[in-house]
Amino acid sequence: MSAVPPGMPIGVHRQAPRRDTDHQPFIAAALAFGVLGGFSLAFTLPLEAALGRVTVGWMTHTQLHGHIQTIGFATLFIIGVVLRLLPRFGGSELRGVRLQRPMLFALVTGVLLRVIGQPLASYPLFAGITVTGAAFELCGVVLFAYTACATLRSAIRTGAPTALLLAGAAAWLVVQSTLGLWWIGRMAADGREILGARESAVLVNIQFFGVLLGALLGVGSRSLPTFFGRTAVAATAGRIAALLLNVGLAAWVAGGYFDIPRCASAGAAAVGAAILIVAWSIGAWRFPGRLAEASKPLGWGLLPVGVTLGITGLALFATGVRGFGEGAAPSTAAVDSTRHLFALGGVTLGIVTMGQLILPEFASERFAGKPGAWRGPTLAALLVPAALLRAVPVAVGLSGEARWWLLTIAGGLGWAAITTFAVLMRRAARSHRRYLDKIASLQMG
Ligand code: HEM
Repeated sequence: MSAVPPGMPIGVHRQAPRRDTDHQPFIAAALAFGVLGGFSLAFTLPLEAALGRVTVGWMTHTQLHGHIQTIGFATLFIIGVVLRLLPRFGGSELRGVRLQRPMLFALVTGVLLRVIGQPLASYPLFAGITVTGAAFELCGVVLFAYTACATLRSAIRTGAPTALLLAGAAAWLVVQSTLGLWWIGRMAADGREILGARESAVLVNIQFFGVLLGALLGVGSRSLPTFFGRTAVAATAGRIAALLLNVGLAAWVAGGYFDIPRCASAGAAAVGAAILIVAWSIGAWRFPGRLAEASKPLGWGLLPVGVTLGITGLALFATGVRGFGEGAAPSTAAVDSTRHLFALGGVTLGIVTMGQLILPEFASERFAGKPGAWRGPTLAALLVPAALLRAVPVAVGLSGEARWWLLTIAGGLGWAAITTFAVLMRRAARSHRRYLDKIASLQMG
């Protein structure tokens, strides 16, 4: 899909004009969280475990790694991109343009305070800081959910799959932040630094499958068929997928929290089925067919995203059906492994590849000259092995030092990929700014 032509106004809102660079601070913050926080911890956590240094602090940092990656990195990045795409998906102007700055401030402050406060939450001052962080995060996601649902309102009414999936993702974001505030509050009141396993599992499953999967399927159900040279996902198939995803996830987290194993496994199977419907409709195993010449090498990044989606769907479906048959909840190892496969091969590779196809910074770059053909294959060559090294050892039950060393390599590869993308993004943003300045001076002249 071609990006919005660089320099072209995106739309004028009654309340405030929308600028072509509004998404940049969201993306810069997301990449800073990824490079300096989430992916750095993805390397140091398994390294510490390989060296036998697993303490209470390690457990706290594990939860922080998860929160920084899902909310600080992936969700913040997706929000930045989705705010650009919402008018196109909703067939209307972007609502609440003035809310973007407070939204960004609340989200960034929220994640930072949570990270600063949680490791020392047994001290009242830091307990207060982490709870304040959770409250800021809730404010930020409410602003986003309002913006998304108001802009998509008429598309939601007509039952457009993309709108239903994105509205679902926004709603789950509010649910996870509300539950997060409540449970972080209880944790802080008890003088603990770690969320209980049950609470943490609910939050993490909502973050992965409610927020990130919902958003990826929402954006993907419109844009991936274009990249893959297919028609958009059929309305009925898309609506069934949205229903299975949202009802299935509700059953999964409720079943997990209230200890109803078959409810949890049926829910996981339904989430898997939702992914399979979208992956099948897109033909996710085919090489993307409609990319412009300059973007063709990025197809090597996009193809594994589609394949990973399909494998994630199959794995969840199989885990859920097996659990249901055995009267057991989905196994923790199987779910952790599938979540990371999806996080690295689907979400992270999707972000670095689709970002280059969708964002105007990279469009400006392509305008100025053909970008290096190494990007798509290199990013895939870092992230596909990272996904496999993170997921497979856990899935096959490898234990001991070997498992942790493989995870350490996975963390290093993930960090290298996201740092490479951050450098590319910075360069492209500079060339975009030069391009916009040139257009402005031509218009004035
Ligand atoms: C190569 C990269 C990665 C490595 C090596 C890695 C490593 C880890 C490790 C060692 C754990 C703790 C598992 C345990 O308790 O046994 C973990 C948990 C987690 N990771 Fe990752 N991770 C990576 C990438 C990601 C990404 C990209 C995301 C999300 C976008 C993510 C989200 C999470 C979440 C949500 C948890 C659960 C935290 C909790 O228990 O509260 N990780 N990861």
